[in-house]
Amino acid sequence: MSERTCLSIILAAGEGTRMKSALPKVLHAIAGLPMVAHVVRAAAAAGAGDVAIVAGRGADEVKRAAIPFAPTAETFVQKERLGTAHAVLAARNAIERGYDDILVLFGDTPLVSVDALAKARAKLAEGASVAVIGFRPRNPTGYGRLVERDGALLAIREERDCSEAEREITFCNGGLMAIAGKDALRLLDAVGNENAKGEFYLTDIVEIARDAGLTAVATEAAFEDLLGINNRAELAEAEAIWQKRKRREIMLDGVTLVAPETVFFSFDTEIGSDTVVEPNVVFGPGVKVSGNAVIHSFSHLEGASVAEGCQVGPFARLRPGAELRGKAKVGNFCEVKKAVVDTGAKVNHLTYIGDAFVGAGANIGAGTITCNYDGFNKFFTDIGAGAFIGSNSSLVAPIKIGREAYVASGSVVTEEIADGALAFGRARQATYPDKGRQLREKLAAAKRKAE
Ligand code: UD1
Ligand code: MG
Repeated sequence: MSERTCLSIILAAGEGTRMKSALPKVLHAIAGLPMVAHVVRAAAAAGAGDVAIVAGRGADEVKRAAIPFAPTAETFVQKERLGTAHAVLAARNAIERGYDDILVLFGDTPLVSVDALAKARAKLAEGASVAVIGFRPRNPTGYGRLVERDGALLAIREERDCSEAEREITFCNGGLMAIAGKDALRLLDAVGNENAKGEFYLTDIVEIARDAGLTAVATEAAFEDLLGINNRAELAEAEAIWQKRKRREIMLDGVTLVAPETVFFSFDTEIGSDTVVEPNVVFGPGVKVSGNAVIHSFSHLEGASVAEGCQVGPFARLRPGAELRGKAKVGNFCEVKKAVVDTGAKVNHLTYIGDAFVGAGANIGAGTITCNYDGFNKFFTDIGAGAFIGSNSSLVAPIKIGREAYVASGSVVTEEIADGALAFGRARQATYPDKGRQLREKLAAAKRKAE
């Protein structure tokens, strides 16, 4: 099929008022990715990487969301909302370039599967002019009904225009369809607006095609593939379905999820086999975890890479630019940002490592902080391989700590420490024999006198 050229037209001009949001509806995210980008991604994977988006407000932002998955994506603006056929024709200039297949998708139907699109395109390859993607919703109210006879699709009837008998049909229009490029403009230009809503219905091209002696068919997709999002409750429903699919995919790829329903992934999360993810872990965008790692409970990772055999958490936060190399450990209540924790290094307890390099095998004691920010600029901390940083040390950046250097607990380090050196950066302890007891007695006497 790949030799057939394909344009996807994504309708995204919906007002989305029920989202009650300043953000255009199709830019609301599922798994950290705008809905419209999910659609573009599926279209590209189904061979329709030439993308025309028909947008309403926020056309520039919508295009920006599409570009990572379809670098040549273009947007067209539908000025008046006169119906789905009218919306498709807003992309007339793109259609006129000439394609074998045209896929019409909705920007607010983000869970559409590559498989459903490929199935519809396959029908065009077999000679159909129109292939409609149908489904059987639990409640068909509001959907266009697919009127079929002997495997051919006769018409799509919008609910408001249905006869009593047609309203009983449970096979419905998911809204998405594939149209043969050679017939598309002819069919679309023939659509009128004589119907209950006075709109130019894309769905009318089915009857128009049949009247012209062309073939229209319906394919069937899962209900979940065609879930349309109109409010935030439906957005959450789609998120849940997406997460469920991703968890399954990740587990089938060889990752152990101890309690899958408590782990949340982003659209681009990658995890290697034999890694174990404990309950209650969140993966924000841009995370790659290699194999044989353990991500302990209650960790939050974002923009981070975790190499083979690393251990993260429990209660660890890896922020953008965190890079854990082989077998490194980042333990409880630690935060790592824009920093390398090199092979075998350990950052185990209550520590902040930001804008830093932690050399191989270094040991960072509990409560260590890289003081990377003076309120205006960020500075770098460079810790040599094998260094030992005693607990509760503050490393005031910019600072360099040599290989195998040793920093005493409680130090405030402001000067470079050479390789192999021992540094104390704290006041000396003074101890006065018996003075403790004397002080206690004095204070007690004072208190008695006051009472
Ligand atoms: C449409 C279908 C219906 C199908 C249902 C599935 C038509 C006429 N009807 O109905 O058969 O069962 O989807 O969800 O196609 N849009 C524009 N510009 C317009 C009108 C719509 O961009 O002028 C976009 C909307 O933003 C939306 C999509 O097209 O993404 C569908 O429009 P909507 O009004 O939701 O159509 P439905 O009445 O749901
Ligand atoms: Mg709709």
